[in-house]
Formats: sequence, structure tokens, C-alpha cells
Amino acid sequence: MPQAPLRLLDLMRQTEDPQVINLAAGIPSPDFLPLDALKSALEGEVQSRAREMFSYHRPEGAAPLREAIRDYLRIRGVSVQADQVLVTTGCSGALASIIGTVLKKGDTVVCEAPAYYGQLELLRAVGVKFRTVTTAVGQEPDPSKWERALKAKPKPKLLVVTSTLSNPSGATLKEEGRTKLVEICRQAGVPILEDDIYGDLLGRSRPKPLRAFDDGSTVLYATSFSKTVAPGLRIGFSLPGKWMEAAADRQCRQSIHGAVPSEYMTAAFLRSGRMEGHLEMLKTVYAKRRELAGGILARELPEGYRADDPGGGYMLWVRGGKPGIMEEVRKKCLERGVAVVGGGIFFAAQPKEACFRLNCARATPEDLARGVGIFCEVLKAESGRSGARKSRT
Ligand SMILES: Cc1ncc(COP(=O)(O)O)c(C=O)c1O
Repeated sequence: MPQAPLRLLDLMRQTEDPQVINLAAGIPSPDFLPLDALKSALEGEVQSRAREMFSYHRPEGAAPLREAIRDYLRIRGVSVQADQVLVTTGCSGALASIIGTVLKKGDTVVCEAPAYYGQLELLRAVGVKFRTVTTAVGQEPDPSKWERALKAKPKPKLLVVTSTLSNPSGATLKEEGRTKLVEICRQAGVPILEDDIYGDLLGRSRPKPLRAFDDGSTVLYATSFSKTVAPGLRIGFSLPGKWMEAAADRQCRQSIHGAVPSEYMTAAFLRSGRMEGHLEMLKTVYAKRRELAGGILARELPEGYRADDPGGGYMLWVRGGKPGIMEEVRKKCLERGVAVVGGGIFFAAQPKEACFRLNCARATPEDLARGVGIFCEVLKAESGRSGARKSRT
């Protein structure tokens, strides 16, 4: 019987078995949460604003949070008013409200290959047709590749891109290409859904989001604080531009609004001025983890495979070889106590080469080194086997 495709639901349910070194899940480590700052943010808000904090509020989000987000965006080069911000349940909520508002069944969408599987699932649920542009670290497509995809028939309704440290490829759109991409889309009349969830984790100073080069008529922006502050807050937001009313209406019908204590707490954290220092700490830790895992991969990966450092974030994308071995590698790694995720789920169509995403942040440095070592051994054995099978045929 053919295997049912893996869903986001299955991945999120995967148990945190302490016996398994988990390099599979794309989630950050709880070891690096800014717990003290969050605790004082919560305590301060409960002391001073308990009545507002535990009541219904405006469906678009609590005013203090929308104002704090406006200020957060300003230092990232994006100038908006607080009432242009729609607070959502994580970045997933932001993506869902925009995708659900802008697209309908049968529409064509241009997206990355590979792309975050949550984006692909949301797009598949609407019933869109995919047109993909390949992205990889060091091989970011120049704007003309996007232009070709935009100009092909039928005309796409949306372009979806994770502009910085894309998940899983790690690719970051080049700074000089950003204005061009926005301009091409503006001329073609195709809006961009920019997912910027990893933007703050780029090691060097982050490039301005695409939204910084637009007034909101072409770029619809989505992000969250899940990868930088705390995923459990479930605080994300979108800048849906002219679709604000429709997106807010849609969200209100589904949930009225998000969890108010989380919104007040996030607002207080952002106001506390501790965000930028926290980001510096994360970038330093993640760079060390990538260096550790990357060093082992550089020495131990079988010939034909590569894992380029994305320059930020906590994931490495390993690719090369025949795609047929991915499931066997995943199984054999798990038998040896290491969970890795095969890259097939990140593609709208089948990938042309084997690929795996490794999370370097969740395991301790010792477990990370052991896990990556085992992964390389399994990959070597399986690529040898598939090579041997090929030469016999
Ligand atoms: C590119 C991308 N967008 C969105 C999300 C979902 O984020 P959130 O947990 O804030 O819903 C993720 C999570 O891994 C992601 O990698």
C-alpha cells in the first residue's frame, strides 16, 4: 500500500523521545528562551493591566502589541502605522489568513523549491497549481528567473517566498535583487507573500525585508516571534495591505482574536529593549552549532553531497545523490537513535536529488556531533548500496 504523505500534524506530534537525538524537527531549543525577560514582562502586565489582559479586545490585535510591532518594524526599515498590523496566531496564522483571502482553487502560485512544508500544505488545501523556482545557498535565483516564472501563462495570482534564510534551503534573497523583485512583481501585477520568520537570525546584519521597498500594495508581509522569542507565545502578524479588512474578517470568523495575555506579554517584552541583545546571543550560539555540525559534514559526507552554511539560523540543508535513498536513510538513522527529516516534504513536485534538513539547535553539542556523525555513516552506507545496485543493473 502506498505510504500516506507526512503531514505537518504528524511532524508536530512526533514525540520528544529522550532516547532519540532529534535533528528532524524545525523547532528552536527551549534552552535559549529569554525566560527571565518573559517572566518579568508577564508579571508587569498582570500588575498593571489585568483587566484589559483577560478581556475580549479588538479582533486585529491588542493596541499595545500593534504599536510595539510598528516600532519593531521601523528599525528593520519598514514604516507602517499600528492599524496596518494584523496580529495572528503565529506566522502560520498570518500565512493562512493571506493565502485564504487572496487565492482560490485553480489559481497558479509561484513558490520556492524547496519551500516550507507549512506553506505548501496551506496552498494545497486551497487547490492551487504550483510553478516553482529553485533556490539554494549560493545559488539564489537572480530576479530574471522569478520574472520568467511570473510571465509564463497562466498568470500567477501570488508569489510566495521566505526572503531570508528560507526553510529548508537556507537561501537568502540577495540585497541587490530585492528592489528588482518587488519592481518586477509590481509591474506584473502579482502580489508577493513574504515570509520573514527567520530574518532576525541572519548572522550579518539582516537585509531589509522586501516590504521595506514597497508601500504595501505589492508585498504582503508575514512573520512571527516563534523562532526568535518563544514559539509557545503563538504571536505572529501580517501586513495584508488592501486585504486587511478581508483578512481580519476571515480571522475574526475563525477565532475572534488571539490569546490576549500572550499579546500583552509580547508587547511588554518588545518594549523592554531586550530583544536585540537576545538576538545577538541566539546568533552567536547558532553560529557555533552550525560550525560544529558543518565541520563534521564537510569531513564525513559521501562524495557528491554538500551542506552549505546559510550564514545564520539553526538549520543545515544537505543535498546530493539519488532521491530514492531518503526514506531508507531516515529509517536507518532512527534505528540508530537519530531522527532526521528527508527533504521530499519540502517540494511541490518530487526533488531531483536526495536532501535532508538537520536542526543544529535542539540537541546538546555532544549529541549534535554524535547525531551528525551517525547520519553521515548511514548516508555513506546507503549511497554505496544504491551505487552498487546501479552498477549491477
Ligand atoms: C518559513 C516558516 N514559516 C512559518 C512557520 C510557522 O511559524 P509559527 O510557528 O510562527 O506558526 C515556520 C515554522 O517552522 C517556518 O519555517
